[in-house]
Amino acid sequence: MNILLLGGGGREHAFAWKLTQSPACEQLFIAPGNAGTAQHGTNVQLSPNDFEQVGNFCLENAVSMVVVGPEEPLVRGIYDYFVENEHLQHIPVIGPSKEGAQLEGSKAYAKEFMAENNIPTAAYREFMQANLAEGLAYIEQHAMPIVLKADGLAAGKGVLIIKEKEEAKAALKEMLDGKFGAASAKVVIEEFLDGIEFSVFVLTDGKDYKILPVAKDYKRIGEGDTGLNTGGMGAISPVSFVDKELMADVENRIVKPTIKGLATRGIMYKGFVFIGLIKVNGEPFVIEYNCRMGDPETEVVLPRLQNDLLGLLEAVAKGELAEHTIIKDPRAATTIMLVSGGYPEAYEKGKSMSGLSAIKDSLLFHAGTKTQEGQLLTNGGRVLAITSYGNDFQAALAVSNENAKLVDFEGKYYRKDIGFDL
Ligand code: AMP
Ligand code: GLY
Repeated sequence: MNILLLGGGGREHAFAWKLTQSPACEQLFIAPGNAGTAQHGTNVQLSPNDFEQVGNFCLENAVSMVVVGPEEPLVRGIYDYFVENEHLQHIPVIGPSKEGAQLEGSKAYAKEFMAENNIPTAAYREFMQANLAEGLAYIEQHAMPIVLKADGLAAGKGVLIIKEKEEAKAALKEMLDGKFGAASAKVVIEEFLDGIEFSVFVLTDGKDYKILPVAKDYKRIGEGDTGLNTGGMGAISPVSFVDKELMADVENRIVKPTIKGLATRGIMYKGFVFIGLIKVNGEPFVIEYNCRMGDPETEVVLPRLQNDLLGLLEAVAKGELAEHTIIKDPRAATTIMLVSGGYPEAYEKGKSMSGLSAIKDSLLFHAGTKTQEGQLLTNGGRVLAITSYGNDFQAALAVSNENAKLVDFEGKYYRKDIGFDL
């Protein structure tokens, strides 16, 4: 079958690598893709958010499945667009409906969903310009630190953790005044949870679910988790402190009520649920939901998944996921992200890259790369993910760190301490 994969980062390269291992995958198209995805299929210059263009492409190229990498097309309703169009409804879209994607698209929606389903999460209130005074009073009587979250999508920048009341009040005013545009017209204020984070990925057909290998990502730019937040500087799988008991709690208190809650609301959800969790005093709490796989978590999760991924996605589309069992590679996987100098603030693109062919014993997943006149160039803040296997994450990390030295481009930076806190 022909597949269209939407997106163009490291996550999508990992998807392309894994999907094309399936005997059932005939042609893979990636829109827009990157220099890495081009090794596995055909990159096409389509905007994932232009549904009409995407739909026409599917019809013209006999595409029989659309796999959605990033959240934006899902939050904008690509699933619904296909289901509601008589020419497209035979083509399954892997991802939730527009309403299901609200779990990521609106923090307030997600919090209300969790409250309704008794899913453990930080206590919260939501505020808009109309009840600003109440918001300020709420901050005044609240313990510090406190967490302010723009309700809508804010490119990973919409969460502020603040230690001082006056600073929190000023931030609330700024957010409601449009600091993150329409995304912060509503602000969720919640209690700060002190613990250690991890990520659980669930694949669901709307009735049943399968839990994929657990992972932990490292979001800060600097070693020792310092400096600005990024899209993710590295990830590991599995995660040592996520033992059987904690996983059982996650499954019973969070995964099951999530899947059941979606069904109770009548929400179509055939795709990935990425649950950002924090372990506090031995108990799991939900920090956030995402309606897609994580990046760079995918670059360690898919390498540890031994199932035929396309087989699983076909089962999702048909509602037959219950018939499958997830098989995990017992080895650990660690990925490190090589980024452009300056990232996550201003950085330059178009730097020529070399040394990739010298790399042995690692998987290379391109993130921000492109080929121009036969030359490989950087094309984003996050450039290349280097994933390695090992008996434990340290052994895998050592291989990735060695290989990271071999890749060369101006301004190259990476963290060498992924997993440092375990
Ligand atoms: P989010 O976009 O909701 O994932 O938030 C981004 C990051 O902020 C998370 O990965 C956490 O590190 C942190 N964070 C969010 N909410 C909380 C919370 N209630 N307590 C502590 N840290 C939080
Ligand atoms: N690595 C975090 C994310 O994909 O949102």
